[in-house]
Amino acid sequence: MLNDIYALSYISIALEEFDEPKLKALAQHAIQKNKRLDISGYLCFMHNMFFQYLEGSKTEVVDLMNEIEMDIRHQVINLIHFGSIKERKFLGWSMRYLDDGELSSIHLEDMLNWIFTSMQTEDIPLALLKEKVHIMVDQIKTLRGNKTIN
Ligand SMILES: Cc1cc2nc3c(=O)[nH]c(=O)nc-3n(C[C@H](O)[C@H](O)[C@H](O)COP(=O)(O)O)c2cc1C
Repeated sequence: MLNDIYALSYISIALEEFDEPKLKALAQHAIQKNKRLDISGYLCFMHNMFFQYLEGSKTEVVDLMNEIEMDIRHQVINLIHFGSIKERKFLGWSMRYLDDGELSSIHLEDMLNWIFTSMQTEDIPLALLKEKVHIMVDQIKTLRGNKTIN
């Protein structure tokens, strides 16, 4: 349908050093642009890898993803298209950067850690990866209740 929300997520490896100020600057730029595009989502960074979730109109999300994939600061290694979803999960989060403290507050660090480290050492079946990513996306939703909105 025309007004469907399209969602995707990906994992990428950083190709340069990212410290906290640099990550926040990246997220700040993303917030402004995503607001204009009516895209919501979040960004996690751990073990030199990114995990990002994006949702919005299909054209905007796919176009932005193409742009993000061409960004030389990282290399996308795993892209998961969730396709159309019934409603936005992260309304109001133009691009929330989730730091380690927030990830551990919802016990997500371990799962992210598992995904990131096993991706570097072995081939995870796509179905298993998708399942873990689905769980993470839903778990991150629980942060929405008690944190400020970007
Ligand atoms: C890990 C990662 C995540 C990014 N996420 C976003 C994002 O959500 N929104 C965005 O506009 N740019 C994001 N970017 C930056 C884009 O790749 C690109 O540099 C930016 O959209 C260009 O913005 P401009 O059109 O204002 O020059 C991200 C870059 C990286 C490395």
